[in-house]
Amino acid sequence: MKPIRVGLLGLGTVGSGTFHVLRRNQEEIRRRAGRGIEIAAVADLDVARAQGIVGEGVKVVDDARQIIADPSIDIVVELIGGYGVAKALVLEAIAAGKHVVTANKALLAVHGTEIFEAAHRRGVTVAFEAAVAGGIPIIKAVREGLTANSIQWIAGIINGTTNFILSEMRDKGLDFDVVLKEAQRLGYAEADPTFDIEGVDAGHKITLLSSLAFGIPVQFDKAYVEGITKLGAQDIRYAEQLGYRIKLLGITKRVEKGIELRVHPSLVPTKRLIANVEGAMNAVVVQGDAVGTTLYYGKGAGSEPTASAVVADLVDITRLHTADAAHRVPHLAFQPDALSDLPVLPLADIATSYYLRLRVADQAGVLAKVTGLLAEAGISIDAVLQREADEVGGEGSTQTDLIILTHDTREGTLDAVLAQVQALPTVLAPIVRIRKEELA
Ligand code: HSE
Repeated sequence: MKPIRVGLLGLGTVGSGTFHVLRRNQEEIRRRAGRGIEIAAVADLDVARAQGIVGEGVKVVDDARQIIADPSIDIVVELIGGYGVAKALVLEAIAAGKHVVTANKALLAVHGTEIFEAAHRRGVTVAFEAAVAGGIPIIKAVREGLTANSIQWIAGIINGTTNFILSEMRDKGLDFDVVLKEAQRLGYAEADPTFDIEGVDAGHKITLLSSLAFGIPVQFDKAYVEGITKLGAQDIRYAEQLGYRIKLLGITKRVEKGIELRVHPSLVPTKRLIANVEGAMNAVVVQGDAVGTTLYYGKGAGSEPTASAVVADLVDITRLHTADAAHRVPHLAFQPDALSDLPVLPLADIATSYYLRLRVADQAGVLAKVTGLLAEAGISIDAVLQREADEVGGEGSTQTDLIILTHDTREGTLDAVLAQVQALPTVLAPIVRIRKEELA
């Protein structure tokens, strides 16, 4: 059988990785897929550079639409990124009857419903393994490997940049700004790192996982997203003293009233495997009712790790593209007419436990007053740590840090009590609150 023909839009880091992996492993890939997979054409604005990478045997153009219009192309790989031109090109490729492979989490988390519907109507597949956690086959695991399970929750370190920064902050006791500059110098963080450090990239990824796990439409607009920019080195230290590491987690959970969907820094017990995932690595924990806890670990970014996922999608499509469209694996794991309208809950309705740090006047009755207000609201305390005033503010200091770990409570209930606690004259600075996930 003649090889399946692929058109690659964008020959950057992941695009060139895809080209090299396909070429290097072409024989094994052919044996797995049942026919060869060849990159027949590439679109990139820098034609000369792209031609230098792929050699003279592959057609390179600067206009992606030439590839979409080429009837000999079976699969379009979109590696441009963003919501603008990438969205138009993906929809045009679908309309032209081509399967699409994309690593574009932002596009799918925001416009996934429209894109998957268009693909479903046209009988083509949009595959996106590379969009979440790079080389880790987490989409495949959730959508297919765990299909027997009622999934209860997913929690993941799904942004390598922020995990690298947090690891460095903990290892070296440095503040966020200092480590960010170093990460940029070393090439771990982008020149404009906003999407990573503000939690948006992780928000896109957990939105996709949430849909796959619970059969709900993609709803990034309902996700709560908080990054790591306000995290202080002292909270990382205190957490460590209490037996926790701080990680930026994407969390989605099925609860009685709906679905939790959130990204924020979280205290995780140091004894959990995921708490020990360091540097730019990614890891995802999935809890299913039948299988129990499963953990997936690997590189979440980079040229060939991400290409590994792109090529896996190419093989999947090659195997399946002659199959009846109605009987292929559904995009979001559940059949499109069987999606659920379970609501994504507002943050006030989530239930979790908390790390609270209060800068207080070091005088009698302060701790009692604070814990009294928490008790009145029915919030149970798990642990309290009070630092020596001298240690916190230097010799002769009259201020100290009071750290409280709570048991599970509704976020809305905690908000109300913290407003009262913040108003106490003995509470001297804005209260720091970090959510805590036991992941048990
Ligand atoms: N910028 C992402 C990260 C990789 O740092 O993990 C692509 O989503």
